[in-house]
Order: sequence, then C-alpha cells, then structure tokens
Amino acid sequence: MTQEHLRRAAPRYAEKTKNDKGFLEVMDISKFYKMPSLFKTRYVKSVDSISLKVQSGEVMGLVGESGSGKSTFAKLITRQVEPTQGAIRIDGKDWLAHKGEDLRQRRRDVQMIFQDPFSALDPRMKLGTSMGAPLAYHGVSDAIERMRRVHAMLNEVGLDPSFADRLPRECSGGQLQRVVVGRALLLEPKLLICDEPTSALDASMKTQILNLFLDLKTRRGISMIMISHDLRMVRHICDRIAVMYLGRLIEIAETEHLFEHPCHPYTQALMASSQLEVTGLDGAGQLTGELPSPIDSPTGCGFHPRCSSARPDCSKLAPMLKLCQDDHYARCRYWDALAQPGSHKTEYTAAPHSVVD
Ligand SMILES: Nc1ncnc2c1ncn2[C@@H]1O[C@H](COP(=O)(O)OP(=O)(O)OP(=O)(O)O)[C@@H](O)[C@H]1O
Ligand SMILES: [Mg+2]
Repeated sequence: MTQEHLRRAAPRYAEKTKNDKGFLEVMDISKFYKMPSLFKTRYVKSVDSISLKVQSGEVMGLVGESGSGKSTFAKLITRQVEPTQGAIRIDGKDWLAHKGEDLRQRRRDVQMIFQDPFSALDPRMKLGTSMGAPLAYHGVSDAIERMRRVHAMLNEVGLDPSFADRLPRECSGGQLQRVVVGRALLLEPKLLICDEPTSALDASMKTQILNLFLDLKTRRGISMIMISHDLRMVRHICDRIAVMYLGRLIEIAETEHLFEHPCHPYTQALMASSQLEVTGLDGAGQLTGELPSPIDSPTGCGFHPRCSSARPDCSKLAPMLKLCQDDHYARCRYWDALAQPGSHKTEYTAAPHSVVD
C-alpha cells in the first residue's frame, strides 16, 4: 500500500463513531457558555464538538489539564447542564429526549461520583438513611426492604453493615467514598461517572477505592467514565483513555497503546510531566505555560503555542482526529514526524499521515 493510499484510507474519528454501536454514544456534543460583554458576544467553549463511544462494561478514562472541560463533559452526560449542540444516546435511545418526570426517573441510569464524599452526604443524616433515600425516591417504599438492600450494599463495597448507623463525621474519607459508591450502585445504574474519585484521599485509601472500582468492573461489568489527573490510576483501571485539551478530544486509544505510543505532543508532554515511567519520552517537551483561555482559543491547533514541535501552519489549520494505528486516533497533523531518537515511535513509519480534511 502506498503512503497516499493509506492517507486516503485513514478514517476520521467522527466517521468511526457514526458507524460503531456503543452503549453510550456521544455525538458532536458542545457546551458554550455565553459571557456577559458590552461589545460583542463571547463564549467559553468548555466542551467543543466531542464524539465518543463507551461500550457496555467498558471503563473509559478522561484526562487533561485543569480547565480542559472534563467535568463539563460529565455534567452533559448526567444532564446537569444542557448541551449547546449535539446528541447523546444511551443503550440506543435518545438520552436528551427525556424531560420532566420522565428524566427524573431515568436519572438513576447514569450516576455520578464526585471528588469529595463529605459534601455528597448530609452531615446530620445516618449513612443508612442517606443511602436509602434515592431508593425511596425511586419507589422502594418499604423501609425494611430499603435497609436490607443498604446492608447488602455496604457489604459489597467492603464495609460492615453497622456503618448504616454512623454519621459521616464518624468515618474516614475512604469509608465515605465507599458509601457514596454504594449509594450510586443501589440504583443499578447503567453508567457510572467518577469525577476525580480518589483525589481527596491518601495513598492507602486511594488504593482501596481503586480496588473497589476494579472489583465492580469485573463483577458487575458496569460501564464507567473515570475522570482523573492521576495517569497512574487511569492506566491501572481503564480500558481506553480519551485525552482532552481546551474542550476538545485530542487523542483516544486503548490504554496500553496510549501509554506505549502516545501520538499527540500534548499527551506526550502530559505523560513526561507526570513523573510516570513511560519509556521513549526522553525527547518529549514538558508541559510549559498556561492553558489558553477557552474564550479566545488559539487559531489552528489549540496546542500550537505550547507545542515544542509546532510548525508554521499549525497556527493556521485546525487538525482533525485521525487514525494513527489500531483504533488509536490523534488530533495532530504531524504526529508521525515527531519521533525522537530512540523513541518507540519508529515502528509507526508505515502508518497513515494525519492530514487535514
Ligand atoms: N458555568 C460556567 N460558566 C462559564 N464557564 C464555565 C462554567 N463551567 C465551566 N466553565 C469553564 O469551562 C472550562 C472547563 O471547565 P471544567 O470544570 O469542565 O474543567 P475540568 O477539566 O473539569 O477542570 P478540573 O480538572 O480543574 O476539574 C473552564 O475554563 C471553566 O472556567
Ligand atoms: Mg473538573
């Protein structure tokens, strides 16, 4: 196959997501916040045209610097904010079509876990009551049945059922995070979104919660989106990883493929800056400078002002997400020219170029 042949054959990520069926299908979703301004209307592009799919039972990691739009993306899926444009399907059904009471009932399908378990629980309420409250809301009216399910769930998340009688202040952060995970699971969600679930915990608690997620993945086969700054943690737990930058998806691949062959210079820099032992990144630039404002994002490639490998046309032409290899997509026009001496990327020489459409 000639290089030109490969270039033409390289599918865009948007085409792939259109053709594959996933459990969660996000199509071209955006969230732009209007900024008050005296002169011309301006928008914060928190999430900008993201398409991705999560398969049933898959754990998808979402990484990127602070302000890259990860939490906004999670809020769009949980319907805490409504999108400016785009579509979301869950199990083949239009998720954005649910309104009013119908939406309230369906919210149990997508549960979210936040960074700080203390703020997710009422400090005056016993943990058993807090855990049972969503069950009552969703029609389990028998208090004895609710408590039976709460006790069984406490057991499942590795806590003694007696924790049902404790108040939040009588527990550690790790124990409370287990309670919060258990409360979400009681509703038997189809999708669990975890936004920095371990960042408020110390190292040993972190390991315990990670093991709990791994256990859930194996036993329950639940689909999850795991948002984190901790690359080590997402590598440990996720099947695939999506990298966000300035509201856009800039790379997506199977976890080990991403860590062994990061294609986008941003992903390389993120890994190089994270003190991870990833081989072949010796030549990758460290992340320098600030994330540009999502109000006035740079023209062309949004990463070009910080990219040590940027070329003159990177400031003019916006790259598309293009196939690098085996289900691995990156939004860089020159990813295949970035190989550094001794880098693992030499094996990519026969792969298609990422060209702008
Ligand atoms: N309600 C809002 N109004 C205006 N701008 C917002 C709003 N919510 C988020 N933003 C902006 O959208 C961008 C993305 O924010 P978001 O919280 O999604 O980032 P993040 O990747 O989750 O960051 P972190 O890692 O720090 O949690 C930021 O620039 C933020 O200021
Ligand atoms: Mg966030």
